[in-house]
Amino acid sequence: MMNEAAIRVEDAICSRKSVRAFLPDAVPRDLLEHILRVALRAPSGGNLQPWRLYALMGASRDRLVAAAAEERKIHPMGEAPEYPIYPPNLNEPYRSRRYRLGEAMYATMNIPRDNKAARLAFFAHNWEFFGAPVGLIITMDRQMGVGQWADLGMLLQNIMLLARAHGLHTCPQESWASFQHVVRRTLPIPEHEMVFAGMAIGYADGAHPVNSLKSERAPLEEIVTFVE
Ligand SMILES: Cc1cc2nc3c(=O)[nH]c(=O)nc-3n(C[C@H](O)[C@H](O)[C@H](O)COP(=O)(O)O)c2cc1C
Repeated sequence: MMNEAAIRVEDAICSRKSVRAFLPDAVPRDLLEHILRVALRAPSGGNLQPWRLYALMGASRDRLVAAAAEERKIHPMGEAPEYPIYPPNLNEPYRSRRYRLGEAMYATMNIPRDNKAARLAFFAHNWEFFGAPVGLIITMDRQMGVGQWADLGMLLQNIMLLARAHGLHTCPQESWASFQHVVRRTLPIPEHEMVFAGMAIGYADGAHPVNSLKSERAPLEEIVTFVE
């Protein structure tokens, strides 16, 4: 039997998914602050807390989205990020997993593979935070290395699970790394911080087909080796 706390943790984990269409409804500032304050209890090696967060809502969010829209006229997919988002030639099974995710996502909206324009048009909603009223930009000091990348993931997951606990949804977004120049021009980010990702936070648009996507996972047997 699971106790109630365990059930709540499992609910948050299992109901979290990447939402890619949000309602415009505002997220109260004190709720966002609460979520971020609790999320900052995330562990980090040596307690470095190697992260910085830029929380955008209202005018600041709109400014970044508008600046990204301008940039897209020149670079529709942004420019090179400061780090390779994926390895250049993904091996199996990773390549197929990525492919299947893309196919499943566009299938929810009936966008076939050869309709590149429609696919790009949907993908570009990344740089509108998919309509979410809150956008986060997550940065890390450039001196940090592999160990600290894991730390960043802990913080992001905390934010995403706490968001669920408060009725919100999220989408983590590496796609903002490709707009790092725009992000830098628009926000007070010091040169020694690298732009890792963004995150959309808000209330899910339950009527949008893309939010019906349930991404698959490899079965436990494929991932876990129990060593006797
Ligand atoms: C660090 C990170 C960055 C991501 N960046 C993007 C992104 O830029 N755009 C997007 O639509 N999804 C992005 N995703 C969402 C993944 O595609 C998603 O987590 C994965 O397909 C599993 O689906 P789920 O989150 O719905 O469980 C990102 C996820 C993570 C963890």
